[in-house]
Amino acid sequence: MIALTIPDIRKEDIQLAVDVLKSGMLVQGEYVQRFEASLAEYVGVEHAVAVSSGTAALHLALTALGIGTGDAVLVPAFSFVATANAVRLSGAVPVFVDISQDDYNIDAGLLEKVILEYQGSEALRAIMPVHEFGCPANMNAICRLAKEHDLLVIEDAACALGARVMGQHLGTFGACGCFSFHPRKSITTGEGGVLTTNDASLAAQLRLLRSHGLSRVNGHIDCLVTGYNYRMTDFQAALGINQLLRIDENLAKRKVLVNRYYEALADHPELIFPTRRRGHVWQSLMLLLQSGDLSECIQSAFRKGIQIGPGAQCIPCTTAYGVKQGFPGASQCEKQGFVVPLYAGLEPEGVDAVVAFFRNRL
Ligand SMILES: Cc1ncc(COP(=O)(O)O)c(C=O)c1O
Repeated sequence: MIALTIPDIRKEDIQLAVDVLKSGMLVQGEYVQRFEASLAEYVGVEHAVAVSSGTAALHLALTALGIGTGDAVLVPAFSFVATANAVRLSGAVPVFVDISQDDYNIDAGLLEKVILEYQGSEALRAIMPVHEFGCPANMNAICRLAKEHDLLVIEDAACALGARVMGQHLGTFGACGCFSFHPRKSITTGEGGVLTTNDASLAAQLRLLRSHGLSRVNGHIDCLVTGYNYRMTDFQAALGINQLLRIDENLAKRKVLVNRYYEALADHPELIFPTRRRGHVWQSLMLLLQSGDLSECIQSAFRKGIQIGPGAQCIPCTTAYGVKQGFPGASQCEKQGFVVPLYAGLEPEGVDAVVAFFRNRL
């Protein structure tokens, strides 16, 4: 079976995690600190705060920035549900904006329209752009709109570690960036996430909130705010430390494989490829099936030993959100979008097998 993804975990990664397990010091400690320092340096920010998942990162970002009940946050209609769930978990309301089918990111023109026409009773407080599948959202337009309308920017960069626009890492354009280390991301700690920011007081608030709101004051431990247990364990951090050293090599390999897919299949009449954006790190390559039954295509690939799978959700169309119409881009992408095998260790022959599968359907 050619898998959708296989994490790049090597002997040295496992050894470091085993060292932690043998030490008996399992919870957040020295390795989390080391991982945070390396991440901050890599992304080019003052502070990195490791947490238990990308979802926890998003939730903490909103909460630490004071967003909650009575507030609204602009989010793309097409993403993993965690983007909107985090907004709801904070007490705020997600306001969905449709995406562009070119790159699956929030449509900046529509975003402006939604901001200008917004009439909800909650106060618009922030834009949470998603760099879908590692493709940079239009940060120039988003930051301009945020400035004009006095909105915060919280980047959902879950899929975009290592992506840079004009030399600047994604996750550093707004108040803070949120990353995920789920196994489908370019580096993984099993579950895990990190927040990046240059704001020292925000970082302090994030650290407080991730660990029950507890702090030592004059030698006495006090609970300063109602917090969460969103800590990363030391053995998870240990697993990530060496992977981070290899990330640029890993991203370069993905790019070569993506080029191979484009060269061999971009002219395929059944398939629509996304427009390639500068800085894309290709956490996934999602294609659209022009017409026909996607589940038939997925099953047929599976029978040939190839794993292809659904991309992301039209979040407002899910049962939990219940808005069935008004997002043609997102619903089309959910209906017809699928991701193909892509990971640093995938051999070119793996791509060729996927190519052959689609060529043989003609
Ligand atoms: C765009 C996006 N946001 C948020 C998340 C949530 O991250 P996690 O699974 O680490 O909670 C994901 C994860 O897959 C994601 O793709």
